[in-house]
Amino acid sequence: MKQAFRITAFLLSLALLAVAGFPVLNAYGAESQSQKTLVLGTSADFAPYEFHKTIDGEDKIVGFDIEIAKQIADDLDAKLVIQDMSFDALLPALQSGRVDLVISGMTPTEERKKSIDFSDSYYQSNQVIMVRSEDTDKYPTMDSLKGEKIGVQKGSIQEEIAQNIPDAVLTSLDKISDLALQLQTQRVNAVVIEDTVAKGYLSDGALALAAATPDEAPVQAAIGIRKGNTELLGKVNETLSRLKNDGSIDKMVTEASLLSADRVPPSDNIFSIFWQYRNYYAAGLGYTLLLSALGVLFGFVIGLLICLLRMTGIKVLQWLGSAYVELLRGTPMLVQLMIIHYGLALTLDINFSPLQSGIITLSLNSSAYLAEIFRAGIQGVDRGQMEAARSLGMTRGKAMRLVILPQAFKSVLPAIGNEFVTIIKESSIISVIGMVDIMYQAQVVKNITYKGLSPFLIAAAMYFMLTFILSKLLGVWERRLSVHDRR
Ligand code: ARG
Repeated sequence: MKQAFRITAFLLSLALLAVAGFPVLNAYGAESQSQKTLVLGTSADFAPYEFHKTIDGEDKIVGFDIEIAKQIADDLDAKLVIQDMSFDALLPALQSGRVDLVISGMTPTEERKKSIDFSDSYYQSNQVIMVRSEDTDKYPTMDSLKGEKIGVQKGSIQEEIAQNIPDAVLTSLDKISDLALQLQTQRVNAVVIEDTVAKGYLSDGALALAAATPDEAPVQAAIGIRKGNTELLGKVNETLSRLKNDGSIDKMVTEASLLSADRVPPSDNIFSIFWQYRNYYAAGLGYTLLLSALGVLFGFVIGLLICLLRMTGIKVLQWLGSAYVELLRGTPMLVQLMIIHYGLALTLDINFSPLQSGIITLSLNSSAYLAEIFRAGIQGVDRGQMEAARSLGMTRGKAMRLVILPQAFKSVLPAIGNEFVTIIKESSIISVIGMVDIMYQAQVVKNITYKGLSPFLIAAAMYFMLTFILSKLLGVWERRLSVHDRR
């Protein structure tokens, strides 16, 4: 009985922990019922188009694309909600209806026009080759880039341009700031990038433009809209033509460029980086706790159900339970996440938010492991226990609940603890779909500071603290439980 009480208390405290993480929910994706929203998808790594900037201690996404989006939202009398994601996730996000429009310096290519519609263009730029300053003379022509290691943004037209350089070895990454880092650390020797964006990286003198320039006509930027959404397309074009005619766009570009040039060089000291961006990490911590607490909670319940299913003695149920466990253990969690977040949206029109997809993935994934742990525990309880309980007149279910499960639970507690620690760490995977957890915030801080190490060391320290505290707590609990054994 006491045991059951303890388990309930434990689950309750987990739920409390989850609820404690809840207030952060309002900061993210929440929408007021009264006003309609316009959800903008963008990849905020593209100054001066769109980029992260700390304003009054808070992380803001700014840039001239964002200013244009605000005008469109105003004209539609809608509230603008910005979703930051990797550039190559924008098209699927638009198609699956997760965002209403994409403004991300996107070039309206023929290929893209097959899957989405584009507005009139609002800006024009040229392609350049960015290299380390000491290498500027090394690349006088495009031919000199033959066989070179080249960095590009994944899914961008720059990727295609680089693919046409003979024998080039490409590194395609999600974020432009990663490319600058790759260049500085000599992992690639050149980066194909737009001139407007390259400017932002040239100021401190480490990087420069090569004389070689891709043989490309200037490219346009246009706004992506879901195919067939002609109403929004018309409205967007109206706003664009107003902004172009009254010179607003030029003004927005100038202002955004000034804003992005006004970068206080970040300190090299890890402690001051942490202090400066503590709000980012604190917000991330809230989501990591929420994700793992709910993942553990639901994983625990589903795992127990699956385990009992496998022990019913009914063939079909046993088979279903085994199939569940094998499938979930035999496929990577990242793949499961993609299927749940994007796959379901594209095929069945089930659109989970990043938080929902994250909790579902973590719960399902951990339930498979927990089911196995529970099974091992139950099978480890001496057969005689069930026989004794049954001979006292208990039903199978009652014997399971009162005699077998408590003993099983105690013996597998260390294994369950390990699983919880794993979930906290694995929850970092959810950052790839835009869940603003510790890992995601570390990447944001990296994008702002252009520092590749400190932001992640801070994240590592935070994850370590969480898992360390948890395993200590579990250790205490385990010792408490074993006290009864000695009596
Ligand atoms: N104009 C290029 C393209 O359409 C690159 C755009 C990248 N945009 C960004 N926000 N990172 O492929």
